[in-house]
Amino acid sequence: MIIGAGPAGLLLGQLLHEAGIENVIVERQSAQYVLGRVRAGVLERTTVGLLERAQVAARLHSEGHVHDGIGLAFDGVLHRLDLRALTGHGVTVYGQTEVTRDLMNARTAAGCVSVYEAAHVSVHDFDGDRPFVRYTHAGQEHELHGDFIAGCDGFHGVSRASVPSAAIRTFERVFPLGWLGVLAHVPPCHPELVYASHERGFALCSQRTPTLSRYYIQVPAGAQLSQWPDTAFWDELRRRLPTDVADAVITGPAAEKSVTPLRSFVAEPMRFGRLLLAGDAAHIVPPTGAKGLNLAASDVCYLAAAVREYCCEGSSAALDAYSSRCLERVWGAVRFSCWLSALLHRFPDTTPFDRRLQSAELDHVVRSRAASTALAESYVGLPLEI
Ligand code: FAD
Ligand code: PHB
Repeated sequence: MIIGAGPAGLLLGQLLHEAGIENVIVERQSAQYVLGRVRAGVLERTTVGLLERAQVAARLHSEGHVHDGIGLAFDGVLHRLDLRALTGHGVTVYGQTEVTRDLMNARTAAGCVSVYEAAHVSVHDFDGDRPFVRYTHAGQEHELHGDFIAGCDGFHGVSRASVPSAAIRTFERVFPLGWLGVLAHVPPCHPELVYASHERGFALCSQRTPTLSRYYIQVPAGAQLSQWPDTAFWDELRRRLPTDVADAVITGPAAEKSVTPLRSFVAEPMRFGRLLLAGDAAHIVPPTGAKGLNLAASDVCYLAAAVREYCCEGSSAALDAYSSRCLERVWGAVRFSCWLSALLHRFPDTTPFDRRLQSAELDHVVRSRAASTALAESYVGLPLEI
């Protein structure tokens, strides 16, 4: 039983299906709603490998774009980090919405059961051998029984919230700012992503396709969309970019606009008897490092392997190791995402001393091959050990 049809739940369902293990997904929203959420855009090679293993990578390979480098802009100058030269690897730019669409289509083709628009979802008896899930659909109450419950229901889901507080420990850092994101049907301003640190705040130029761009600017915590009409967004974005990059920005009406708070959150452990948390249900990283979706993918890789080992070989060893294996990767991603966030953003309490320190560190990152390699290694992601 899988709660949530985000990338974690859908990929887990597909990996289990490939292993011959029956599973049902219960999702609170409609499929259309899930597909309408614009989020991640950068996939590590391990995530691409998992999507290949799940037999859902054909469109990703034909329509996704491999990027061999990223831009780092500060003090008005654009520097390039050659990810491939530094690490031997690049990243793939392919939207989370498209990953989700591919997984949903594969699930339908495989005939696996998904229940969308399920209300009052609740999880029960996961501390015993017979866990079950209860929900209401089209006015009727239903119960699902199975071996395990996978809590893939995101940060605000019911799974983590159902764990007794004495059994869980949480760690959190809320940054006093957010990201305002705009998706627009315009060509990207630069061939690669550009992360920009500026006196006025952070900006990111990302992209989905040669005609679809995704841009972000740092905004104060609690900023409202009504404060940011399209023209104000484009003006502010340009102000924060080096002149030649700013001049190449083509503006257009926002097809989507949203504000995301910047936070880091980790729940430990990630397994409670027969309830296993995966993805944003267990942890959130600030989006700066582009790690959230990739962590969701590595969690479900470990989870699918553990369930397969239990069902096919009768061993609980991988289930017992699930939490610690995931958390090692999670804290690595938290470290990188928090470090990169601190390096690139302007905080309310940032002093002139701190600004000089950020500049010195950015200089070090682009001048020292060792420092560039350290950033690039974390950005492209470490290999998955299964
Ligand atoms: P979600 O995508 O949140 O899915 C959870 C699902 O569970 C949802 O469909 C929800 O409706 C459902 N649900 C919730 N409650 C219930 C319930 N009670 N019952 C049933 N269903 C329920 N990550 C990257 O790797 N790279 C990036 O470039 C990147 N950029 C990002 C940019 C932004 C602006 C944001 C916001 C995030 C970004 N991320 C990025 C993070 C990434 O989008 C998330 O980590 C990812 O969506 C996690 O997937 P998930 O399946 O765990 O959770
Ligand atoms: C995105 O394209 O949405 C994106 C890219 C890189 C990030 C965060 C978000 O670090």
